[in-house]
Order: sequence, then structure tokens, then C-alpha cells
Amino acid sequence: MLPVLTIDGPTASGKGTVAQRLATRLGFHYLDSGALYRLVALASLRRGIAPDRVEDLAELARTLAVTCTDGETSLEGVDASNEIRTEEVGQHASIVAAHALVRAALIARQRALCMPPGLVADGRDMGTVVFPDARLKIFLTASVEQRAQRRYQQLIAKGFAANIAPLLRDLTERDARDSTRAVAPLVPAAGAKTLDTSYLSINQAVNMILEWWQGTR
Ligand code: CDP
Repeated sequence: MLPVLTIDGPTASGKGTVAQRLATRLGFHYLDSGALYRLVALASLRRGIAPDRVEDLAELARTLAVTCTDGETSLEGVDASNEIRTEEVGQHASIVAAHALVRAALIARQRALCMPPGLVADGRDMGTVVFPDARLKIFLTASVEQRAQRRYQQLIAKGFAANIAPLLRDLTERDARDSTRAVAPLVPAAGAKTLDTSYLSINQAVNMILEWWQGTR
């Protein structure tokens, strides 16, 4: 069985950056499952598929040509790494992701991305549903204020306009939806180690997780 390290947690907890650095340090592939949900959401927005047309969304999830590994994010062969990062797409992704049929369509696709020599998988249900046998499962959190601040910096750096107050509101709303949905809600996986990064730098978080990873051998 291939070694898998899962990093789950709420929005803007630093999962993406931490997971990518861990993948580089371990020489593993990196799966950005949030990007997968965002790509499905972006495609549905472009095609005008309403968020309650579950069958159509599931069909899209099953068949859409996407890339969401190793830092590449594309939709039907075209780079979409910036377009998927808007708050509109994030909110839409969280609505689309609450449908059991959509999630079911994406499980096999995510598992197929687990390739040698190993995988770091980042998302909401990596440890609970997609890779329940992962060697190490991390639940990454941070205070809501810290997370809003980080998301603000991230959006500004990408050249988007941003304001803290609406970001804080969106973040709280999305966390509530992700944590209370009936399918694959955001909860720490059994046996997961929780790491609060409110007062940790990216490097400190990465080193802590690497230490835990070494301990699993
Ligand atoms: O960047 P951020 O943490 O805000 O979000 P993301 O990881 O890109 O995920 C966007 C949305 O996709 C989340 O709000 C979830 O609703 C959904 N998602 C999910 O349901 N399951 C995953 N494994 C990953 C993302």
C-alpha cells in the first residue's frame, strides 16, 4: 500500500501551503481536492447549471477534464489556477460539495491520483472518507480571525480586491456548511492529530508534521 499523508481542516487554515511543502519535502505527489471541487463549481457556473440540479452536477463531476495535482490546476486543458480562487467559486464549491452524488463521483477520481512514491492529500474528508487507511492524518486548524487575515493576504497577493469583514462572514458561513452537511462533514478523522496553526509559521507546522511522519515508520 502506498504511503498517504492527509491534511484536512477548515478554510484558510494553511492546508494548501503546508501540504504542498510536505509533498516537496517527502518527494510525494500532492492532491488539492479543494481545487477539484472548485473546478466542478467553476464549470457549473460557466455552463449555467443551477446548484440544485444534482444529476447534472454529478455527471459533470464524473466526466469533466481536470487537473488538480502537483501544483497544476486546469479545466479542460486550460489553466484555471487564478479563476478558481475567488470567493464566489469557493462558496459555490461548498454548495456543490454538499451533494452526496457529486462526492461519490469524485471519490474514485481522487483515489486514482494516489501514485508512487506516495501522496499528500489536502481537503475536508481525505482522512475520513477518501483515504481512511492513510499512514498519518492531520487536522489543521487556526482561529477564525487568523484565517480571515490569511485569506485576505492571499487574495490581495493574487490581485483580487478584498475586505476583512465580508471575508470573515463568508468563511464562517462556509465552515458551518462544511461542518454540518450530512455527507462527509468536516470533522477530524479517527486517529487524526490536530494542529492549531494560529501561532505557528508555515515552517513550524511543516516541521511538526514531518516529525510525526518520521514517528510512523
Ligand atoms: O481554500 P479553502 O480551504 O477555502 O477551500 P478549498 O480547500 O479549496 O475547498 C473549497 C470547498 O470545497 C470547501 O469549502 C468544501 O466545501 C469543498 N471541499 C470538500 O467538500 N471536500 C474536500 N475534500 C475539499 C473541498
